[in-house]
Amino acid sequence: MGEKVVLVVGGGGREHALCLSLSQSEHVESIHCAPGNAGTATLSTNHPVSATDIEGILSLAQHIDADLVVAGPEAPLCKGLADQLTILGIPCFGPVASLAHLEGSKLHAKQVMKSANIPTADFHVLDNESNIDAALDDFSDQPWVVKRDVLAGGKGVVVTEDRSEARDFILSSIEKDGQVLLEQFLPGEEASMLVVMDGSGFVCLPASQDHKRAYDGDKGPNTGGMGAYCPAPVVTERIRQKAIDTIVQPMHSYLCSLDTPYRGVLYVGLMIPESGNPSVVEFNVRFGDPECQITLPLIKSDVFELLYSASTDTLAERSIEFHDLNAVTIVLAAEGYPQSPVKGRPIFGVPKNVQSVDGCSVWVNHAGTSLDSNGNLISTGGRVLSCSALGPSLTDACKQAYAILENIELQGSHYRKDIAFRAL
Ligand code: AMP
Ligand code: GLY
Repeated sequence: MGEKVVLVVGGGGREHALCLSLSQSEHVESIHCAPGNAGTATLSTNHPVSATDIEGILSLAQHIDADLVVAGPEAPLCKGLADQLTILGIPCFGPVASLAHLEGSKLHAKQVMKSANIPTADFHVLDNESNIDAALDDFSDQPWVVKRDVLAGGKGVVVTEDRSEARDFILSSIEKDGQVLLEQFLPGEEASMLVVMDGSGFVCLPASQDHKRAYDGDKGPNTGGMGAYCPAPVVTERIRQKAIDTIVQPMHSYLCSLDTPYRGVLYVGLMIPESGNPSVVEFNVRFGDPECQITLPLIKSDVFELLYSASTDTLAERSIEFHDLNAVTIVLAAEGYPQSPVKGRPIFGVPKNVQSVDGCSVWVNHAGTSLDSNGNLISTGGRVLSCSALGPSLTDACKQAYAILENIELQGSHYRKDIAFRAL
């Protein structure tokens, strides 16, 4: 048992995955989670402090004498959590607010990419003064991509072939936010590249693929993510190297030229066209959810060491190794998700520990769960569970992840039956 105390901020599947990997570290003595969920409660001490209550998180970090704070979601980072922890001398995995702005403002991210010559879709910034029809004409040979310049929880982007829908979304966004982005449509396949970085260097984790639409065949509304697998074969070695040379390296150089290093994980949302030259769709300043659930288990090295190094600018001194295995996770969502999820229903049949089945490791990451006053497991969110497996092949891992779902009961719940179909 180690001696380090870690505070994980957040309460979803990603944070359960962080707790699980940290619990396997030889350096970690105890884990605390704020606010956590029923899954993190089995590995850490949960505290009833909201992830966006910065004062509350700072007091908690001091009270437990945290050696490291790991920020799960972007909101506390955009509100300055890392800035405040730095003043207190507590290492934080997650960037300061000015850098978290890369996710907080899509326009800012676009301007940074332009200045660092990083490939991304062309765009117009539209406001009350703009000629909207001329801008729509500019990108009229493809679907229109309209993005609000605010943190909109996945609801700020419209991709449509319907000109009047694009126009209406532009007008309503300008009314709400003052301005909006109109982007050139990028054809291709998407992948997520998670890059752990600090002022000394960066480590690219194996690339993964998320499934953002609610229903099979990439149909239905956008969600936070219905499942993911890692590694994603669409990111071949050549494409990975291209992404490092044209995106990650210039981005890291740009970030290193600023006053405060970027300490944390930069989520690079890639679009890979047939040419094989990747472009950036978006940056996030945190682990993806559910990408985190299937990327961390592929790290052979100690995950605490990785996160702590990146929080203290010593990443370049580490050599990080990975397992040559495949991981997949399937999200079980509540009835009505993503529009209006039904909460508060009992859940049955959730295995408690990591199990070994036919050469695979199999486990469940809790997302929107909690225990009621009788200690029974209930749903509290839209994405309720993330059923995961790690195995020698993607086919084996998928089989085992889907097998877990056969035994789980949650009235009205749904999940996609085609996770990883592109790779299989
Ligand atoms: P974002 O929040 O920027 O990641 O956008 C949400 C989703 O919209 C992405 O995951 C893509 O599927 C799609 N998208 C965003 N920008 C573009 C683009 N320029 N071309 C094609 N699809 C896009
Ligand atoms: N799974 C997509 C995201 O975390 O943004």
